[in-house]
Amino acid sequence: MKDSFGREITYLRLSVTDLCNLRCQYCMPPDGICKKTHSEMLTEDEIVLAVETAASLGIRKLRITGGEPLVKKNILSICRRCAAVNGIEEVCMTTNGILLPQLAPQLHRAGVQRLNISLDTLCEEKYARITRIGKLQQALSGIEAALTEGFSKIKINTVLIGGFNDDEIPALAALSKEYPVDVRFIELMPMTENEAFGEEAYLPCDAVLQALPQLQPAEQDGGVARLYRLPEAKGNIGLISAVSQHFCAECNRIRLTADGKLKPCLHSDQELSLKGCGPDEMRLQMLRAIEEKPLCHEPLSATARSKAKRNMNKIGG
Ligand code: GTP
Ligand code: 5AD
Ligand code: SF4
Repeated sequence: MKDSFGREITYLRLSVTDLCNLRCQYCMPPDGICKKTHSEMLTEDEIVLAVETAASLGIRKLRITGGEPLVKKNILSICRRCAAVNGIEEVCMTTNGILLPQLAPQLHRAGVQRLNISLDTLCEEKYARITRIGKLQQALSGIEAALTEGFSKIKINTVLIGGFNDDEIPALAALSKEYPVDVRFIELMPMTENEAFGEEAYLPCDAVLQALPQLQPAEQDGGVARLYRLPEAKGNIGLISAVSQHFCAECNRIRLTADGKLKPCLHSDQELSLKGCGPDEMRLQMLRAIEEKPLCHEPLSATARSKAKRNMNKIGG
């Protein structure tokens, strides 16, 4: 279905939990978050009903996010049921990879076709610092497990942070030469949790073009990343310029949070609740979310922060 600006909305980002086994500095508070009561979250049946409703309105691609989706107990059943919904053509997941060594084969069998895996550094000490509690080796084992399992596409998501990992752009990009993966550099978005980051942290993706002058433009895939390629690489380099060059004009997505709030735009605080809705009410709320999707969000910068009142772990990216 088209929104009021003629954009075809075909992509639902579904956050299944705001909990995570990491505590990335730009995403979550250090102590994690207080767990919401069970009754505030969507049940598995409500999630499936929401996906069925979305599919009946033209959603074709589903991305399961978190927090960390793999910490959700019934994640395999959710994936299996969502993948079976009529109209859903593609089920993808964004994960930090930590639990993939245990779960990759079952996830694939449950119908998840593509994985985007977060990895901000290749240095053990820096990984522990940025994630506050993570071990680099676990994330790398997760990527290996995903490669072994043969998902149709694997993308590495690196949040580009000035003064933290800009010195690692060549090393991270080189993963696309060694493995058949796309490596995507994402501009740090100024959400509520990362107020502590100084202005130097907000590096535009152009820094990647400067660090890698050998990049050649590659065939685009219709996603939010501008795609390039290193000579003789097996995968692409993607630049997600969410701050310096937003992509609102081509936005094709809506979001659903784990507590059942539909978000027409990542950076708006507008939310429509699906919790407790039956099929008809759910359909009406979803129609409203699509109709009321704003044309654009206001410009973002270190000093002009996102209007979203939630941290990323409560939105799902
Ligand atoms: P593909 O299906 O592989 O194209 O994935 P994706 O890029 O849509 O999803 P992913 O979860 O990997 O997100 C990558 C980055 O893009 C994250 O930092 C997201 O927060 C950001 N992102 C995703 N959707 C939007 C959006 O609508 N607006 C903005 N500003 N950023 C977004
Ligand atoms: N800015 C940019 N990307 C972010 N992510 C989480 N928080 C932010 C932020 N403030 C990324 C994660 C993950 C994806 C869903 O969003 O690293 O790859
Ligand atoms: Fe967890 Fe991803 Fe947030 Fe890191 S960015 S704390 S891995 S949800």
